[in-house]
Amino acid sequence: MSRLAGKTAIVTGAARGTGAVIARRFRDEGAVVVATDVADGEGIVHLDVTNEADWDQVVSGLDRVDVLVNNAAILHMGPIERTPGDKYRRVLEVNLVGPFLGIRAVLGPMRAVGGGSVVNISSIDGLIGMNGISAYGSSKFGLGGLMRCAALELGRDGIRVNNVCPAGGNPAMYAQWFEQMTSFLGQTAAYSDNRGIPGEVPLETIAAAAVFLASDEASHITGVDLPVDGGAAAGVVIEGLNTLE
Ligand SMILES: NC(=O)c1ccc[n+]([C@@H]2O[C@H](COP(=O)([O-])OP(=O)(O)OC[C@H]3O[C@@H](n4cnc5c(N)ncnc54)[C@H](O)[C@@H]3O)[C@@H](O)[C@H]2O)c1
Repeated sequence: MSRLAGKTAIVTGAARGTGAVIARRFRDEGAVVVATDVADGEGIVHLDVTNEADWDQVVSGLDRVDVLVNNAAILHMGPIERTPGDKYRRVLEVNLVGPFLGIRAVLGPMRAVGGGSVVNISSIDGLIGMNGISAYGSSKFGLGGLMRCAALELGRDGIRVNNVCPAGGNPAMYAQWFEQMTSFLGQTAAYSDNRGIPGEVPLETIAAAAVFLASDEASHITGVDLPVDGGAAAGVVIEGLNTLE
C-alpha cells in the first residue's frame, strides 16, 4: 500500500509501543519516517518533546515535513492527594506542551509544501473522566483544546489537526502499577469487558487510524477526536438489557 507515498512524517515517542507500530505502519504505506524519542534505539533520532532546541534541530535537518504524529506521553496514576505538583506539571509538560512545541515547529515547513497533517495520539481519557489519573486526564483534555484551536487557526494553510483517542492497548505504559492493581483486577477487566466491542484495543488499529488521518483520504477532516476504543466513549453495555422481551 502507498497511502502516504511522498510524505515525510515525524513520529514522537517511537522507540517502543504505539509509536513504534505507527512508525512501521507509516513506512509500510510509503512515508519517509523520522522516528524520534528521548530513549535510544536503532534508527531513533533523539528528540525530547519538551525541548524547543531539539524540535528546531530535528525539523531544520529535513527537506520537508508533511505529517507530525504527537505520540510521546507519560502517565502518572494516583489520587489527587498523592499527586505531587511537580509530577502534575511534568505530565502536562510532556503530554501537552510537547505537542504544542511540535505543532509550532512544523508550521513553517508544512506551509512551505502547501499543508500537512498533525495527528495527536490522545486517549479516551481526553474524552471522559476517570478517577486516579487527574494529571494524565487533564493533559489529554488539554490536548483536545489545543487540537481544536490549531485546526481552526491552521485550516486555511491546508494544515489539518486531529486526535486519535485509544482506550488502552499498551500495558507497558502502566506496568509500574500492575502489582498494586492486582487487588481490583475484576474492576479493571470490567472496564474493557463492558464496551460495545469488548477487550483490548490492538495497537495496529490505533496506527491504522493515524494512517487514515495523515493521508489525503482525510483531506476534509480536521478538528475531530477519533476514538479507537471499541465503543467505550459511547457508553457501557449492561448485558441483561439485551435479553428483555
Ligand atoms: N498505553 C495505553 O494503553 C494508552 C491508552 C490510550 C492512549 N495512549 C497514548 O498512546 C501514546 C503512546 O503510548 P504508549 O502506550 O505507546 O506508551 P509507552 O510508554 O509504551 O511509549 C511512550 C514513548 O514516549 C517516549 N517519551 C516519554 N517522554 C518523552 C519525551 N519527553 N520526549 C520524547 N519521547 C518521550 C518514551 O521513551 C516511550 O518510548 C501516548 O500518547 C499515550 O498517552 C496509550
